[in-house]
Amino acid sequence: MKIKDKHYQTIWYERDSSFVKIIDQTKLPHEFIIKDIHNADEMVNAIFTMEVRGAPLIGGAAAFGVALAAKEKKDFDFIKKKGNDLIKSRPTAINLEWAVNRMINKLINVEVSNLFEVAIQEAQEIIKEDVGFCKNIGIHGFKIIEDIYKIKKDTVNILTHCNAGWLATIDWGTATSPIYHAHQAGIPLHVWVDETRPRNQGANLTSFELNNEKIPNTIITDNTGGILMQKGFVDMCLVGSDRTLYTGDVCNKIGTYLKALAAYDNSIPFYVALPSSTIDWEIDNYKNIPLEERNNNELSHINGLDDAGNLKNVLIYPRESKSFNLAFDVTPSKYISGLITEKGVCKANKNEIISLLKN
Ligand code: MRU
Repeated sequence: MKIKDKHYQTIWYERDSSFVKIIDQTKLPHEFIIKDIHNADEMVNAIFTMEVRGAPLIGGAAAFGVALAAKEKKDFDFIKKKGNDLIKSRPTAINLEWAVNRMINKLINVEVSNLFEVAIQEAQEIIKEDVGFCKNIGIHGFKIIEDIYKIKKDTVNILTHCNAGWLATIDWGTATSPIYHAHQAGIPLHVWVDETRPRNQGANLTSFELNNEKIPNTIITDNTGGILMQKGFVDMCLVGSDRTLYTGDVCNKIGTYLKALAAYDNSIPFYVALPSSTIDWEIDNYKNIPLEERNNNELSHINGLDDAGNLKNVLIYPRESKSFNLAFDVTPSKYISGLITEKGVCKANKNEIISLLKN
């Protein structure tokens, strides 16, 4: 999608320098910085510090991380070790593990001299595939928005949480892809953007994306969605996922569950958009999902511009207060109207997920 009318993807490999390029998302929307990633350790750091974030993007980034390890040392054990470091850099989004395992499996029987070339090709394949998945999610999800519009015959109001936009993927996004497709088809839309404390991915990234695509949107605090739903100002909720169990439960950014409860109570459709790489085919009980707990600084400090236009990070809490920063929660399948995937839309239950997505 576009930033200031120029098309970008979130990550790419530059053959001339043989570095990977990323957009540093910790500085958006105030500063637009493209950064070089030279090796697997730098990629681990970029994922951990959330310079790159969002489930499908960290999958793609980890794939490039494995390729950079293969460039560093033509040694399968070394590459495998770096792959494990990449998996551990963030625990919840399953795309990370999925992408590293795919890369390692691809490299198992490859001749030492070819390791890097095969790895970089596979990483490119993974990100190309993700672009296709997200585009198809948009085509399938578009029909849901179109159906609402056909009945309402007026602006469709969509509420989204966190950033499941193109910045969380390689291009198009998951939750935003149906929105971009509907906008391009001329359906009038307005998006309620949950701020998404503590890191404000909604306000900083989703609103930034939508502004660049000229889609009307309004940032709200995370607690506002409920009353908007009660007043009839939300036609549908559309969110992403970091890990969807094959039983249909969805793990996503903290606060998603409360939005789903409010939507359920107000009979508002609640859809989750995800590529099949986000499905966890092993865990069947949501209590076993590893939920990331992040540094308390993310709650107690906030980024912003001072009056002179300099990016500053300031303390907003009493120094001595305790805080707890859990990054994800789980929405049980019963609150979900449907899953929008690259292969079509299905109910959030085991039978439909297996028949649509397995193999
Ligand atoms: O912690 P983040 O910013 O990586 O979390 C991102 C989300 O929770 C997204 O909703 C999710 O990854 C879906 S990605 C298209």
